[in-house]
Amino acid sequence: MVQLLPSILSADFARLADEVAAAERGGGTVIHVDVMDGHFVPNITIGPPVVKSLRKATKLPLDCHLMIENPDEYIPAFAEAGANWVSVHYEACRHLHRTLQLIEHHGMKPAVVLNPATRVELIRDILPMLHHVLIMSVNPGFGGQEFIPFSLDKIRRLAQLRQEMGLAFKIEVDGGVAHDTIAQVVQAGAELLVAGNAVFGAGQAERDARELLNAARKAAGE
Ligand code: DX5
Ligand code: ZN
Repeated sequence: MVQLLPSILSADFARLADEVAAAERGGGTVIHVDVMDGHFVPNITIGPPVVKSLRKATKLPLDCHLMIENPDEYIPAFAEAGANWVSVHYEACRHLHRTLQLIEHHGMKPAVVLNPATRVELIRDILPMLHHVLIMSVNPGFGGQEFIPFSLDKIRRLAQLRQEMGLAFKIEVDGGVAHDTIAQVVQAGAELLVAGNAVFGAGQAERDARELLNAARKAAGE
């Protein structure tokens, strides 16, 4: 089953609860929260206080995508704030296995994110620990960028590895997922579809989430 994960990065932050509610009415089932620290990526967004407010505004799981250095230092605060899924970048973690254990220890679902230049084979040994793998299909930091086509090969390779290893982690894709790319992403093997600009960019989150989800379901044959 494909799922749409609206990314609030492109929402109107002054009306966040309303924006999330609209995306949920449109069929979004997990809220994707982009956390940026101005070091790992060249942008600054939000942290645990906003997650805490979101937790009160929606019952949907909160998928926190940490684009930060030293994520271990902040994992307890995200757990406390009510995060459900936490993903950390392969490129930001010196002791990735330990970081994933820490996320799990705090009762959250662990995931690893791969930048466009990071090969999927590098995380083979820790795949059994993961709730999902997030394939970045843009360089992280900003919404509204163009989808990088070779991400589709990475999704296919990861789906193949999953099958070979008999695992059940989900494949998430983030960046440039929109009406013109979503069918290919689904056909390549992804089921967790993050979309920011395509959901919130036109100020019609309910309508645009619904259309995007319908396109994804059609591509998945659901
Ligand atoms: C980018 C973020 C994405 C972003 C995607 O670094 O990780 O979640 O919101 O935005 P779109 O869907 O607009 O490419
Ligand atoms: Zn993201």
